[in-house]
Amino acid sequence: LDMQQFISEMPKAELHVHLEGTLEPELSFALATKNNIPLEYKTPEQLVAAYDFHDLPSFLKIYYAGMNVLINESDFYQLTWDYLVKAASENIVYAELFFDPQAHTSRGVSFETIITGIHKAQLDAEQKLGINSQLIMCFLRELSAESAMEHLKLAMPYLPWLVGVGLDSNERDNPPTKFAEVFAKARALDLKLTMHCDVNQLNTLNHIEQCLDEIQVDRIDHGVNALQDPVLLEKIKQKKLGLTVCPISNRFVVQSLTSAEIRQMLEHNILVTINSDDPAYFRAYLNENFIELQKEGQFSAQDIVTMVENSFKVAWLKDSEINQYL
Ligand code: HPA
Ligand code: ZN
Repeated sequence: LDMQQFISEMPKAELHVHLEGTLEPELSFALATKNNIPLEYKTPEQLVAAYDFHDLPSFLKIYYAGMNVLINESDFYQLTWDYLVKAASENIVYAELFFDPQAHTSRGVSFETIITGIHKAQLDAEQKLGINSQLIMCFLRELSAESAMEHLKLAMPYLPWLVGVGLDSNERDNPPTKFAEVFAKARALDLKLTMHCDVNQLNTLNHIEQCLDEIQVDRIDHGVNALQDPVLLEKIKQKKLGLTVCPISNRFVVQSLTSAEIRQMLEHNILVTINSDDPAYFRAYLNENFIELQKEGQFSAQDIVTMVENSFKVAWLKDSEINQYL
């Protein structure tokens, strides 16, 4: 069995991908020219050469600098459309997409511009490419809870376009409980809840515990460190929570694809899923994540099938919709 072909051809779901993290250098240059925004580099190749990530803050700096080229509705449309074309080419049939509205409204882009561009591309991709997707609004955790709440209010006219809310960006000193009120309100609006607990962050076990006990999330993004605490692991198992792990993203922080941890999760019957996180920056989309992970961890075809099935099982779809994929 050719594992690379097996992985590439399998219909897959992606549950942890930041739309702003799918901004390819070529689109970045095209939008910079169109919108008259100066870039620090002369060519897309030079820009990629400057991608030097070794921890979360060093990544976030380049990630936020990159997205300054996104101004008009058509820019958000193009960003989303290009990702969905790429995803469809990798045989992704369903995707849940994160976006970071505060990173754009803070630059004077209106919430309506952002979400309308994204939504129109989702509709076109469903019709023309047959790829289904849903949208998750993330809050930037280094900003205030008040700002998060304001953005939840901005989203009110667009609730049918959102499936859930998430929490991302700089985790240090920004625990889940900082956003307890916002997430309680989101839950009352029937939105699903997830939060990042990135690999090896300060107080990560406390953050995972808060996600489980106080916020009562429906999934955890990353969450790899839960393996260090049997109590947390058992809760994740009992609640049948999905963990959206991103192997190549993890490699920038822990110099490994965390294949040993992923194997342990499978052995514990944890619903671990494989995802790309910020594929344009990490230079690897979903298939590349699976292929590299399989090589590092020597996973069997059955292991791969289990992880792909897990992502459909913990997707935020109705049971009837999930059963169509399984
Ligand atoms: N971690 C936290 N925040 C993020 C990430 C990430 O990997 N990507 C985009 N925002
Ligand atoms: Zn992420």
